[in-house]
Amino acid sequence: MNTDRSNAGSATPLIDSYGRHVTYLRVSVTDRCDFRCTYCMAEHMQFLPKREVLSFEELETIVGAFVARGVRKVRLTGGEPLVRRDVMTLFRSLGHRLGHGLDELTLTTNGSQLSRHAEALAASGVRRVNVSIDSLDAERFAAITRRGRLVEVLDGLAAAEAAGLAIKINMVALAGINENEIAGMLEWAHGRGYDLTLIEAMPLGETGMDRSAAHLPLTVVRDRLQERFTLNRLAERTGGPARYFQVAETGGRLGFITPLTHNFCEGCNRVRLTTTGRLYLCLGQEDHVDLRRALREDGLPGIDAALDRAMILKPKGHDFRIGRNSVAGDPGRHMSVTGG
Ligand code: 5AD
Ligand code: SF4
Repeated sequence: MNTDRSNAGSATPLIDSYGRHVTYLRVSVTDRCDFRCTYCMAEHMQFLPKREVLSFEELETIVGAFVARGVRKVRLTGGEPLVRRDVMTLFRSLGHRLGHGLDELTLTTNGSQLSRHAEALAASGVRRVNVSIDSLDAERFAAITRRGRLVEVLDGLAAAEAAGLAIKINMVALAGINENEIAGMLEWAHGRGYDLTLIEAMPLGETGMDRSAAHLPLTVVRDRLQERFTLNRLAERTGGPARYFQVAETGGRLGFITPLTHNFCEGCNRVRLTTTGRLYLCLGQEDHVDLRRALREDGLPGIDAALDRAMILKPKGHDFRIGRNSVAGDPGRHMSVTGG
C-alpha cells in the first residue's frame, strides 16, 4: 500500500521541542550478529525470539509513515543487517521509495556478507555503505570481533566497489588495542578512495570489556594525526555527531564521532527504531515510544499520534561522560538493540 507516497513530506514535519527537525531514521532490522566485537557485545548474548521482531510488512508501513512526515534518509543497521533472512526483500521494497520523499537508503554493516549482497544492494538503490573495520591486522581483527575473518570483509569491500557503492570505513578507536593503527588505517582507506570515520566507544551495555581502560579521547588522536597530516575542517555537517575534515596529503575525508569528549547533540536530526518496534529518541537515553503497539492497535493514525508524542519526548542529549575510573551514562542497552 503506497497511497502515502503522493503526499510524501506534506504532512506535519517531525520537529522536537528543541526545534530540531527529524529527517533521518535508523532501523535495527536484527539484534543478531555473526561477530561479537568486544566493545559492542558480550561473548554470550541473549538474542530476541524471532516472534518479537517486526515483520518486513510492519517495517515498510512504519518507514512509510516516517517518510510521509519528512524523513529523507533511512539507514538499516543491527546487529548486522545482512544476517537477517531475506533482508534484500526489505531493501528492494524500501528502495521503491527513493525519489518519492526518500533521498537516501543506506546501511551500516560489518562487511562479512557484503560480497554476496553488494550487487543486489546497488540494484535496490543503495549508493553508499558504512563498513566497520577496527583493525587491518588479521589476528587483531579476529581478537576484537571475537569471531570475524578480515579476508571476508576485504572481499566484501571489493564486491561493494565493483558494484559501484561508495564506501566509508567506521573504526572504533580503542586505547592500547588499535590506536597504533589509526594513521595506517587512514592511509589505507584514503588510498582506496574510502572515507574514514573514527568513533569513541560509548558505554552501551555490558560487554566484558573494561571501557575506561579502552577509552581513547579522539582529541588526542587528532593531535597525533596533525603531526603527520594537514586536516582542513569541512563546514558540511550531516546533522549527525560527526565532524569532518579533508586530509590534504591524501585528498580523503576523515570524520570524528566524539560522544565522550565533545557532544554535538544540539544538531541531532535522527531517531532509532529497534527490532521490536520501539522508537528511541536518543542512543543514550531511555525515552521511547512503542510503534509496534501503536500500529497493531490503531494502524497508521496510531503511528502518527505516537510520532507526535515522540517529538515531545526527544531529550536534549545523552549523558555519556568519562570519569577517573569509569565511563558513565550507560542506558543499559547494547548498540545492537537500539541500532548503531
Ligand atoms: N560505542 C561506539 N561504537 C559502537 N559500535 C558498536 N558498539 C559501539 C559502542 N559501544 C559501532 C560499530 C559500528 C557502528 C554501528 O557502531 O563498530 O561501526
Ligand atoms: Fe556485530 Fe557491529 Fe556489534 Fe561488531 S560492532 S558485534 S559487527 S553489531
